[in-house]
Amino acid sequence: MHARVVAVAVAAVLGTAALVSPTSDARARDVGEPTVIAHRGASAYAPENTLASIDKAARLGFSWVENDVQRTKDGELVVIHDDSLRRTTNVEKIFPGRAPWKVKDFTAAEIARLDAGSWYSPAYAGTRVPTLKQYMRRIEHNHEKLLLEIKNPELYPGIEQQTLKLLGNEGWLDRGHLNRLIVQSFSVGSIRTVHELKPAVTTALLGSPTMAQLRQYAPFTDLVNPSYGSLTKKYVAAAHAVRGAHGRRLRVFAWTVNDAVTARKVAGCGVDGIITNKPDVVRAALGSY
Ligand code: G3P
Ligand code: CA
Repeated sequence: MHARVVAVAVAAVLGTAALVSPTSDARARDVGEPTVIAHRGASAYAPENTLASIDKAARLGFSWVENDVQRTKDGELVVIHDDSLRRTTNVEKIFPGRAPWKVKDFTAAEIARLDAGSWYSPAYAGTRVPTLKQYMRRIEHNHEKLLLEIKNPELYPGIEQQTLKLLGNEGWLDRGHLNRLIVQSFSVGSIRTVHELKPAVTTALLGSPTMAQLRQYAPFTDLVNPSYGSLTKKYVAAAHAVRGAHGRRLRVFAWTVNDAVTARKVAGCGVDGIITNKPDVVRAALGSY
């Protein structure tokens, strides 16, 4: 039996106590395939940005996961994509008079009462919005790696410093962890701040900056992560020609690719990573690429 199949079978038996096999990443490196990153966890198969979604990614044999970090009214970092709680929780039912239900207007204790799984499937009823601290501990438990997005930083002054402090407290800025962490944002200012505060951290800029902008941003970023729709072979090659913050070529992770045809097309452009809600679909597509 293939080693990765064995790992998944073992994981299925052991549940969340089973850890990610290194096989998937090692194979990608060996054959020059792009790294596959589970977007908001394995979010096609479990509610996005929950502990269930990163457990699912681990059980599928994928070590890299992506998330989105924002901040509550009382200053707790939480993992959620939208700036409102409405789409991915039952906040309307629990707090009917609090429209538009912004994350920044609710305390951590209030958010902890919300169901972040039922919107996705009744099978996930009772799933919670994780705090970043809870999330990092589960990532560690699962031996996973994290592409952490600082979401809407303009709403949360100082979120870069606060996020780095939490990561440091949890041991993620230690030498052994730094190669398991990338911090990304759509905000150039946010990425610059992260680099200035902790130069050892690998950073990524989301979007499709021009080549002139890329050269300008390269001193404080290591990757550029564009939407696959705007991607060309020429753009990837041009990015690769630029040296990033740590002296290596800028890497390119494309998002959000959920089908085999697009995965092969994007891989053909020469990207270093593919961010996807369906990591199994992308890996299968790349196997025959
Ligand atoms: O990681 C890339 C992707 O997450 C950026 O877009 O809106 O899904 O956070 P979004
Ligand atoms: Ca994101």
